[in-house]
Amino acid sequence: MAARDIAAEILARTDIVGLISNYVTLHRAGANMVGLCPFHSERTPSFTVFPGSNSFYCFGCGAGGDAITFVRRMENLDFPDALEQLAKRAGIRIPQEPQLYQGKKYDRNRFFAMNREAARFFHQTLRDGEAESIAAMDYLVKKRGLSTATITHFGLGFAPPGYETFPAYMLDKGYTPDELTTAFLCGRSERSGRLYASFRNRVMFPIIDLSGNIIAFGGRVMDDSLPKYKNSSDTPVFRKSRNLFALNFARSACAEQLILCEGYMDVIALHAAGFTNAVATLGTSLTEEQARILTRYTKKVIIAYDMDEAGRRAADRAIRMFGDVGLEARFLRLDGAKDPDEYIKKYGADRFRQMLGESRSRFDYYYENVLTKYDLHSPQEKVRALSEMCTLIASFPSPAEREVYITEIARRFDVKADSLRSEIGRLLRRRLTEANRQQVQKMHQAASGYNDRVNPDFARNPGVARAEENVLGMLLIREEHRKAAFSPPISLTEADFSTALGKKIFAFLKKCEEEGHGPDTPDAYFTTEEVGRITRMKVMRMQLTENGDAVFSECVRQLRRAVAEQSQETETPTLTDLTALVRRRKEEVDLPSEGDGKINE
Ligand code: UTP
Ligand code: MN
Repeated sequence: MAARDIAAEILARTDIVGLISNYVTLHRAGANMVGLCPFHSERTPSFTVFPGSNSFYCFGCGAGGDAITFVRRMENLDFPDALEQLAKRAGIRIPQEPQLYQGKKYDRNRFFAMNREAARFFHQTLRDGEAESIAAMDYLVKKRGLSTATITHFGLGFAPPGYETFPAYMLDKGYTPDELTTAFLCGRSERSGRLYASFRNRVMFPIIDLSGNIIAFGGRVMDDSLPKYKNSSDTPVFRKSRNLFALNFARSACAEQLILCEGYMDVIALHAAGFTNAVATLGTSLTEEQARILTRYTKKVIIAYDMDEAGRRAADRAIRMFGDVGLEARFLRLDGAKDPDEYIKKYGADRFRQMLGESRSRFDYYYENVLTKYDLHSPQEKVRALSEMCTLIASFPSPAEREVYITEIARRFDVKADSLRSEIGRLLRRRLTEANRQQVQKMHQAASGYNDRVNPDFARNPGVARAEENVLGMLLIREEHRKAAFSPPISLTEADFSTALGKKIFAFLKKCEEEGHGPDTPDAYFTTEEVGRITRMKVMRMQLTENGDAVFSECVRQLRRAVAEQSQETETPTLTDLTALVRRRKEEVDLPSEGDGKINE
């Protein structure tokens, strides 16, 4: 069986609604299902699942495709691995023919084995009794207070100072220079071309994914030299924006609440003290993806960031981000220590547990900030304090929650609740118009192709690009149009398309036609963003009832006319031409994207 047939079989046997329901709460809306998009933040659902065509599309962010695209995006997998996961789910065995993995550039399992081998090397080096290794062990045990049990549990290690021992060891195990550099374990000298170890003279922290695979490393110096930490860059098996340190250990202990720290050392100290529900980001600030991932494992996040100004700001950003993905978050204050690691060492686990119980909500956190910032005896400052609290309350999505806080603030500041209500109402209306304005602007940008990353050629001539999308959309949804398109009198060719994406989609359609099947597994050829765009073209046409032969011929005619007009325009334009052009572009932009009433009715 060819890869395409297997993919088609898997798609036929996958219930897309069931699959997506594992990640998104879906509600029925006519023939379709809608829910909050898992790929961007939104409060009203624009994510739509079409059971009839086994596809999904988000009208907000343009993500779309079939079950394979969904898994690729959701689980961050490439095409073959997404197939494998869906096959498992559908109970289909995929024969392990190498050409099935056509287009696959690397072998994930080999990367996992390679990282495991590297971790073993670092761990053994830490225990090998050499002078440098003893110094590293002393650093971890004496200076940082870790037990050997903790060191073993986290698989900590030591990367020796030399440039060559590590690469020699890994090459000897059969890994290629290309694999070692792609995994960020080694670098290659530009002058001599020799491999050298990326991590040298550092204590090593392996980063482990939820399946127990070692996917990356962080390495810390043992003195004050810089940079303090060196971390793996993204590799085929690692994206730092999607993973969290120690979530593999914490996942079974964090259902009720999870502690989010900034540093590896904080997490390790917490686990050692019995708080096995602690995790940390990987040398970057919290990403929306990470916040979203945490919603699958916990109900409540306690943010235990460093107590300095940078930590406060980061905590504030994180707390809002958790609010956006609908996760309750609280803020931990640790007096007398700079971070959780230091706090536990100074005051012990019991006191830390007590502090967890006293962690504050976003509301209380802001309230205390406002109290320290303003002198409430001064009328002006009191007004400013009130205005900040109103802005905060207006940002809570639930009316019930807002009402609770309005009453609370009215009491604490001794003002009338009604005046707060009208102020907050005003802020909410302003936010709404702002949101509307942004929505309209986004629609205009989409229609004009401004800032279009998927099809950067769109903006050069939106008229042509839209005509192109009409034709491609119809080709994608109807077999009879494909038949007509490839034979006279229509005989479309790649030259009829002017954007790079249009040409690419046309080439794909043609290839499918020649191989005698429909364009049903675009995921093997396109990026997920491109599949999203392809889906938009289909959805646009499917929403129009009229997609018959006559309409198709008319769309092709329009495309050819638009292209002809475009080529006239490409003579060096004068300034007046340009002004006219700009004016016309603007008019085009103001039209809805399905602008031609004649063919769409
Ligand atoms: P910290 O400086 O708070 O480090 O940075 P830490 O983990 O508490 O380490 P100790 O206690 O000083 O030994 C927090 C996190 O930021 C990232 C690391 O992930 C670190 O754990 N970081 C920090 C880097 O990636 N690079 C750096 O140079 C510094
Ligand atoms: Mn620290």
